[in-house]
Amino acid sequence: MNPKVYIIGAGPGDPDLITVKGKQIIDSADLILYADSLVNKKLFEEVKEGSRVLKSAGMDLDEMVEVMVNAVRNGESVARVHTGDPTVYGAIVEQMNRLSEKGIDTVIVPGVSSVFAAAASANIELTVPELTQTVILTRAEGRTPMPDKEKLIDLASHQCSIALFLSATLIKKVVREFIEAGWREEDSVVVVYKATWPDEKIVRTTLGSLHEDMRSAGITKQAMVIVSRAADRKLVREGKFESKLYDKTFTHGYRKGVKADG
Ligand SMILES: C[S@@+](CC[C@H](N)C(=O)[O-])C[C@H]1O[C@@H](n2cnc3c(N)ncnc32)[C@H](O)[C@@H]1O
Repeated sequence: MNPKVYIIGAGPGDPDLITVKGKQIIDSADLILYADSLVNKKLFEEVKEGSRVLKSAGMDLDEMVEVMVNAVRNGESVARVHTGDPTVYGAIVEQMNRLSEKGIDTVIVPGVSSVFAAAASANIELTVPELTQTVILTRAEGRTPMPDKEKLIDLASHQCSIALFLSATLIKKVVREFIEAGWREEDSVVVVYKATWPDEKIVRTTLGSLHEDMRSAGITKQAMVIVSRAADRKLVREGKFESKLYDKTFTHGYRKGVKADG
């Protein structure tokens, strides 16, 4: 493999949910540097002999970059492994900028983000026809300030499916902002803790009970919080929200529909 840095999405946890490409790069890399506790170590069981597997958790950005730069300058390939998909809250831009300043190329290999793994575990579709056709990926404002035009209260006013990363400790504030934005206490929320891991937990609740139900389930981190009417199974089942795509009266490029009365 070329001596460069491959930024790889490890997927949400289940080691079978990495891409074939990502796994092949890990297995043949000289150095593997992985990001945190949500990257499954099983992914490193088949690395080639002599490769080094390092955890980046104890390193600061400069140390991490130095390790990668030294490896590439020695002609080694580096797999930099991030949880989920690296392009969502992966903190990769600062690594790519520093590597690029040193003349080192990076390639991103996508992964299954926890938002999609959580929706799959909860058995929901995030975009239900006529109910919601938009998904917002965001987070509650904590130590990282939100840009002015992306305040949760403004995003929540769209009342579409809203997936909250990194927000498990800020739930009271989240609920307050959703209610202020016009959501009702009885609106549905699904929380998935450690989606696809053996100790995954799924909590189906409402905005009004969200804080209490997460507390009772002991969920304070590593959780995807999806606020959405699409998570209301009763509403979705009884509402008959169905895509036009498979409607027998709907004509499209690959199928001619029959008349509604025919
Ligand atoms: C630093 S962000 C990384 C997100 C990651 N790049 C992704 O695409 O899923 C970490 C946050 O992602 C969410 N997360 C990551 N993996 C998860 C999982 N397996 N189950 C639930 N949430 C997860 C949690 O909200 C967690 O606080």
